[in-house]
Amino acid sequence: MKVLGIESSCDETGVAVFDTALAGAAGLRAHAVYSQVALHAEYGGVVPELASRDHVRKLLPLVRQTLAEAGLGVGELDGVAYTAGPGLVGALLVGAGVARSLAWALDVPAIGVHHMEGHLLAPLMEDPDPVHGAPEPPFVALLVSGGHTQLVAVDGIGRYRLLGETLDDAAGEAFDKTAKLMGLPYPGGPQLAALAEQGTPGAFRFSRPMTDRPGLDFSFSGLKTQVLLAWQQSDQSPQTKADIARGFEDAVVETLAIKCGRALDAAGCDVIVVSGGVGANKRLRARLQDMASKRGGRACFPRPSLCTDNGAMIAFAGALRLQAGQHDDAAVHVTPRWDMASLPPVAA
Ligand code: KG4
Ligand code: ZN
Repeated sequence: MKVLGIESSCDETGVAVFDTALAGAAGLRAHAVYSQVALHAEYGGVVPELASRDHVRKLLPLVRQTLAEAGLGVGELDGVAYTAGPGLVGALLVGAGVARSLAWALDVPAIGVHHMEGHLLAPLMEDPDPVHGAPEPPFVALLVSGGHTQLVAVDGIGRYRLLGETLDDAAGEAFDKTAKLMGLPYPGGPQLAALAEQGTPGAFRFSRPMTDRPGLDFSFSGLKTQVLLAWQQSDQSPQTKADIARGFEDAVVETLAIKCGRALDAAGCDVIVVSGGVGANKRLRARLQDMASKRGGRACFPRPSLCTDNGAMIAFAGALRLQAGQHDDAAVHVTPRWDMASLPPVAA
């Protein structure tokens, strides 16, 4: 089954074709992402109306480009998947409108995908580990993006239990805000991580929020204030900036690793899958791999380019549901706020 995936929930237009007949990563026949970062940079954050308009401009050319790269005619598609939420309502409607219309014209089924389920399943799109195979439920998922930080017990595909989440800022948001207060350009997460590479470990030590008490929730907003104070009281030299970046990154990574270990204990398993933009962070990847292997398990990630928003994860998650016979009716319907635990299971 060849499924076109469309992602337009925020500031990336992503399109991909996933072919379920091909095993492993080869199933991803083509994918392309257009980032609106430059458009929103001068405002220091995403402007929803500008995002919607840019999706309108970029989506159809990107669909044509992706189909050409996959070597497919539009008539060869067997289904269309689109992000139906959570996200910015106008941006979501652009993807949903195009996807639904295309499916209608081609007379193929269409399905609205939960953006976070897309992230959650992205690691399963990659080639299986030669020794351990592909991760199979039950496992724990850590979803760390610009809008969400969640630990989810995955009992099956589509059977999700929220174990913990952030009470304030998401991990990616904490990276972005911290980067901004030290004068790094938007979106600062990847830049702060790059700067941290030159920082001295231990030169600045920030707290590991909410790790001194039981529970699986997170809180990252206090960390940003600690960094602000350290930054204001420092000499603000390039090396100090890198040292603070390193201290901040270590605090976030360590906090996530501690909670992931506890979530594995709570769920009674040893496999953690990680996705969302912050999942591209090198130090987080290394630390979680280390934590999981010390307990005899493993951590699974998609390649970094599939951690951040993309159409591939939507094509893949949609294909699993379409294959199971699920699809949506012909209405254009999006859900800007959407609880993932309300999704129907893919199989009993
Ligand atoms: O999943 P994503 O692309 O979009 C949302 O659904 O939010 O995540 C974007 C977030 C941003 O906050 C960005 O700064 C962060 O992921 N991010 C990173 C890295 N790459 C992206 N944060 C830390 N280290 C990175 N390497
Ligand atoms: Zn995302």
